[in-house]
Amino acid sequence: MSKPLVFTRRSQLTEFVQNTKARGDHIGLVPTMGALHEGHATLIRRSVSENSVTIATIFVNPKQFGPSEDFGRYPRPLADDLALLESCKATAVFAPSIQEMYPEGFKTSVRVPDLSDVMCGSFRQGHFDGVCTVVLLLLNLASAHKAYFGLKDFQQFFIMRRMCLDLAHPTELIPVATVRESDGLAMSSRNRYLNPEARQKASAIPQALAQAAKLFLNGERKAEIIVSKAVQVLSAEKLQPQYLDLRDLEALQTVVGEIQNEAVLALAQPMSVPNGSCRLIDNIVLSTNPFYRGILEDLIARTT
Ligand code: PAF
Repeated sequence: MSKPLVFTRRSQLTEFVQNTKARGDHIGLVPTMGALHEGHATLIRRSVSENSVTIATIFVNPKQFGPSEDFGRYPRPLADDLALLESCKATAVFAPSIQEMYPEGFKTSVRVPDLSDVMCGSFRQGHFDGVCTVVLLLLNLASAHKAYFGLKDFQQFFIMRRMCLDLAHPTELIPVATVRESDGLAMSSRNRYLNPEARQKASAIPQALAQAAKLFLNGERKAEIIVSKAVQVLSAEKLQPQYLDLRDLEALQTVVGEIQNEAVLALAQPMSVPNGSCRLIDNIVLSTNPFYRGILEDLIARTT
């Protein structure tokens, strides 16, 4: 196995990209904030299987953290991350400093209004502007054919797809199913904050989504019934989500009445942990499209 090349400067990355493209290679990009887990490994393996060159990025982006969020304590286990990238056969990793990404004088902020102001956006002001700014910059630097993102951050994927459509960005964005623990909990770098008690409680999140998925697959389309079922499962574990929303897939509008075609059921759940709190997010896409149906069936199987 060969170690991935490590670039810390923009110029090293762009030179590598130019040479790679001159050889006719296909580039896959996997943007991350590090603290890599099996969810990221799945994105990298998928990219490796579909492209001749895979570039992962590791950058804890300060622009997407609010002042009271966990930027300072976000885990940064670089040596472990590099070992995982090597085992997944990534070709290169771009791990810049903040100064390298946002040099003196950097001013631009990319904003996708409305979509960025609901769900997670209403509790994390400016978060998606930070995500869009860094992702567009990474897409431009890597000039990749495809970029891979996990669907755990469904709203993030939805917003980035809008941004790339609106700005005619040539990189194709590929959504990849959320990778889950055996009890259904979505893998997240923040799961490592959970003590055993919080971890146990957190398993109610996939259970709530699975119960909603079951109703949907059995033909239920009424928003109120589907949402109430999920709330009931969370309440039994004394969990109160920040939001639990059923939204359409056209413009992330709240579904009123019945789901017309397909919808996303998404939530954010604050969890008390020994040194404060952490916030877990998860979602399911309620759809009969075979890709999403398979995801729903897998979630139901893990939680029963
Ligand atoms: O999903 C993430 O890890 C981050 O939001 C991303 C896309 C790497 C941008 O910092």
